[in-house]
Amino acid sequence: MVNWWKKSVVYQIYPQSYKDTTGSGMGDLNGIIEKLPYLVKLGIDVIWLNPIYQSPLVDNGYDISDYYQINPVYGTMKHLERLLEEAHQLGIKIVMDLVVNHTSDQHEWFIKSAESRDNEYSDYYIWIDPKEDGSEPTDWGSTFGGSAWEYVESRGQYYLHLFAKEQPDLNWENPKVREAVYQMMDFWFKKGIDGFRMDVISLISKRQDWPMALPGAVYTKSYYVGASNGPRVHEFLQEMNRKVLSKYDIMTVGETANTTVEQAILYTDPKREELNMVFHFDHMHLDYGRFGKFSDVRFKMSDLRNVMSEWQDKLEGRGWSSLYWSNHDQPRAVTRFGNDLFYRVESAKMLGTLLHMMKGTPYIYQGEEIGMRNVPFEDLEHYQDIETFATIDEMMAAGADREYIKRSVFLKSRDNARTPMPWTAKEKFGFTTGTPWIDFSPDNSKINVEQALADENSVFYHYRKLIKLRKEYEVIIDGVYELLNPNDSAVYGYTRTLNRQKLIVICSFTENKVNYEIPQELAGAKLLLSNYTTSAQCLAQKTELSPYEALIYLI
Ligand code: NOJ
Repeated sequence: MVNWWKKSVVYQIYPQSYKDTTGSGMGDLNGIIEKLPYLVKLGIDVIWLNPIYQSPLVDNGYDISDYYQINPVYGTMKHLERLLEEAHQLGIKIVMDLVVNHTSDQHEWFIKSAESRDNEYSDYYIWIDPKEDGSEPTDWGSTFGGSAWEYVESRGQYYLHLFAKEQPDLNWENPKVREAVYQMMDFWFKKGIDGFRMDVISLISKRQDWPMALPGAVYTKSYYVGASNGPRVHEFLQEMNRKVLSKYDIMTVGETANTTVEQAILYTDPKREELNMVFHFDHMHLDYGRFGKFSDVRFKMSDLRNVMSEWQDKLEGRGWSSLYWSNHDQPRAVTRFGNDLFYRVESAKMLGTLLHMMKGTPYIYQGEEIGMRNVPFEDLEHYQDIETFATIDEMMAAGADREYIKRSVFLKSRDNARTPMPWTAKEKFGFTTGTPWIDFSPDNSKINVEQALADENSVFYHYRKLIKLRKEYEVIIDGVYELLNPNDSAVYGYTRTLNRQKLIVICSFTENKVNYEIPQELAGAKLLLSNYTTSAQCLAQKTELSPYEALIYLI
């Protein structure tokens, strides 16, 4: 039997920006409940909710101060129970975010841990003595800038924080910490949730010899050394699986930055009993520049095709893929990989087609289904995100010019994906009656849900058809992937084969008209879906493609 999560399409909701029902300017659980019929219409199977737990929101909820409480800005436990009940009635499952590499510094575990070296919670976090000269134990840098170590007077020690200093890392070496995490997970499964997306789970096991990252350099981002895919990470996940996950019919997806396919197999090979799938970042790294993610470099289609194919090929029969273009940490896909100026609708549909016909579980990030693009904010003042601020500081310190900074923030800031969901074209776009926590995108009057639902050629209806196809054709779930024409400079084509069926997917990444040739035995395949009304019903050996045309044929 095929696991349900292999046949599912996941829709990611960033609760803060989805739908506000109280006028607070922040989305809430009732807002999500209100929009369930919209999601039924789209046809998705699972909702992944970004963190909604009690939190001071230093990193928008990835700093949890109480794992058992709902942040009042989103509602109460009763609202969550209602969401679970109503979603389940509609056949939609709910996956929550599990953030256990770190907590908030306001979590009572940390408050007590910081008090002294000899209380019950002293070893819940990673505390290390200063070097002889009083400086930090290593040169590790925090993801959000500066050192990854923070000194605390009361203990005379440093604690580790791979993210903000308000996000201290838990000490997974301590069995009591692991037990506390497993207990908390049990609590949520008993509530009825259907799985966890596990935040930076590849970072939980740190090398205990605390190596230097790059001697001589200042604060090297720590996930490159000593923390990524650490020595005990698989042992911990197997223990978690044995003690919690294996008891429930749920799904798990681990966020695993800096993880190769070979490492992903270790996480997802069912025989090893760890996770169902992981989010890798290889395609996200294709347009990195000298400041990492914040750059104005454009990806190359051939690189994208290599990366995607490598993951499709190597995971075949070994593990399972998660397929995504965007999420709350990434810019909008149509800006990054498509053409949001002249072919926004066509290229958004093309990207959806390419991804949803691959092997794995597709994830749609809110707004992607209506083709939202990066937010054309005019100035840096509009941005709110801690990572964006940290990178601006870093770039300024390195002497980057203001225009470059603006450009790369516009292209890469996480806020591109975090502006409120536009439901209508009217005032405040049906998101709130109050003041939104972050400014609206100036695009909203043109790109919004009301418009998408009224236009039968919208990105929304194309996504809906893609989701429907996955339900109708087993070859999309289980077929073996094979690349077509690996050297074509503008078109990404591939096939999926199951028994005697073959699916042929052809996606153009250019705004020019181009020809594409396919092997003779595929000619004659019948059209299942395309993003142009003019596409040929039967695949010809030499096919002329319109700008960003996307074709799905079956033979
Ligand atoms: C990854 C999350 O997706 C991101 O939003 C967050 O800032 C970091 N992990 C830290 O939890």
